[in-house]
Amino acid sequence: MVQLHDQTLRDAHQSVLATRLRTEDMVPICDTMDKVGFHSLEVWGGATFDACIRYLNEDPWERLNTLSEHLPNTPLQMLERAMNIVAYRNFPDDVVKKFIKLAYKNGCDNFRIFDALNDLRNMKVPIETAKKVGGHVQGSLCYTISPVHTVERYVEDFKELEKMGCDSLCIKDMAGMISPTRAYDIIKGCKDAGIKIPIDLHSHNTSGMTGMAYMKACEAGVDILDTSISSLTGATGQPPTESVTAALKDTEFDTGYDMELLMDIREYFNEIWDKYRHLHRSQALRLDPSVTMHQIPGGMLSNLVSQLEKQGAADQYDEVLKEVVKVRKEFGYPTLVTPTSQVVGTQAVMNVKFGRYERITNPTKEYFRGMYGRPPGEISEEMYEKILGPDWEDEVIDERPASLLEPEYKKKKDELEDMGLLRKPEDVLTYTIYPDIGLKFLKGEVEAEFTSDQLPLEKPEEKKTKEKEVVPRVKYPYKGKVKVDGTDYDVKMKDEGTIQVNGKEYNVSVLFPDKKIRPGSSKGKTEAGKNDVPSGEETKIKSPMLGTIIDIKVSPSEKVNAGDPVAILEAMKMENDISAPKDGTIKEIHVKKGEDVEEGTLITTMVG
Ligand code: CO
Repeated sequence: MVQLHDQTLRDAHQSVLATRLRTEDMVPICDTMDKVGFHSLEVWGGATFDACIRYLNEDPWERLNTLSEHLPNTPLQMLERAMNIVAYRNFPDDVVKKFIKLAYKNGCDNFRIFDALNDLRNMKVPIETAKKVGGHVQGSLCYTISPVHTVERYVEDFKELEKMGCDSLCIKDMAGMISPTRAYDIIKGCKDAGIKIPIDLHSHNTSGMTGMAYMKACEAGVDILDTSISSLTGATGQPPTESVTAALKDTEFDTGYDMELLMDIREYFNEIWDKYRHLHRSQALRLDPSVTMHQIPGGMLSNLVSQLEKQGAADQYDEVLKEVVKVRKEFGYPTLVTPTSQVVGTQAVMNVKFGRYERITNPTKEYFRGMYGRPPGEISEEMYEKILGPDWEDEVIDERPASLLEPEYKKKKDELEDMGLLRKPEDVLTYTIYPDIGLKFLKGEVEAEFTSDQLPLEKPEEKKTKEKEVVPRVKYPYKGKVKVDGTDYDVKMKDEGTIQVNGKEYNVSVLFPDKKIRPGSSKGKTEAGKNDVPSGEETKIKSPMLGTIIDIKVSPSEKVNAGDPVAILEAMKMENDISAPKDGTIKEIHVKKGEDVEEGTLITTMVG
């Protein structure tokens, strides 16, 4: 007998509806789903935590609690990204432990724990904690294809996970590229090696051969298969729950589930599907067997396409794809899953745009320092030197990355308490894991986005501009008044550097060599006037790509050395330094924290 782990309430809508399924659309069908007798239901973790607070104005902890009330008979599972929990960076041990404890308390029974690099050291603390609180631990390994990801290696690592105390194991094929033979070989390998605990295969329809892989997995002795109800699957979702159940009927692998119940669930979600029609993407519904050639997951591909389109570089798509393959090899074959898919993807885009490793992103440096964990394969000394410089050996860490982090929970708790926002311990974690959007959510400033039911009364564009703080862009020539130190000037700005004052033309830097001047506003724009910025040749530092300025590292008149970061740009889900190209002094800062910038937007000017 094979059992199914149903992903309808987590991965299915993460794969085809941008993770937007609301709790209100889950609750009415819970009773029926609870009757099927699934091995377990995945309902939490992954991207759902982020989506709840960012787009739905829903408390993810309350969702978990509500679902656990309505699904009393089926074990509920969350997807836990080891030390990244439900986000994209490492958190210290105290935060990870607290999170798992509270997840269990709120109704999570099973913890599927994985690390992007399959670095078992990163999985140790979450595994031990989940065991300790009474949870069922499913130790997962990300599936990929590379010369170092051999069947033997998977079997060895799974054996180790069993030793670490896991209750079950999972092959996590997030890109949907596992072939029938590989699925068979890994599962059979595990069984032959004497692994006793159940094995689960998680995959997506992407390659088109997943149904065959599931059948071979059954033949190899798989215990659990991941599926989603057909109404919410498509190409990037899981094989359909009903189809797999029907396929295994009257065989030795029969799940024994009632098809009538599954059809009721299907019908229910067919209607729900329409409610979210504004999120339907044909791309998510189309199979993509090319994944078997380049091993780049569909999610990463669509992310690359949209990023390149925004950067005005859609014509470089093929070049970037080839570069991703090269970069991945040079990085020691990391699995292309969040967050390493972004590290590799962003570096590949930079390599194509600016020349190979001419610009090295922060995450790339962190990756080479070992801050994500141990790369799966060898990395050459030349690569280390290229990324970290001649003293690279001093920079690379040997220990578990999170062991270098200071505890954070107490500090965040105090901060939240001081702000008067602490209502329950869970709030501390929401705030710690997502400091910006989490805080906004806790303050009650997040508005739930529309659903298709509300269309066409409210169009997405209208809603968007309402939610977003509009930063007016200056269109040149600009005409108006400028106030500098209390005096009004009638000005016409022809471009960023040329200004007409009362009909006479000046170069901005000549007219106000020590003033910070900006059209349209006088408040707070003249503070640089109090500082001394030496005159000299001016260098404009511009944004290398489209993104959001998430931090500004310098202030006017501050001295910087070549290579010092002046601002942090978030692009393609990654943080990138924008650095000073030479030694000098910051003259003016043209953007503010939180501002969206385009490629070529002026960030700062410096002299020297
Ligand atoms: Co998945």
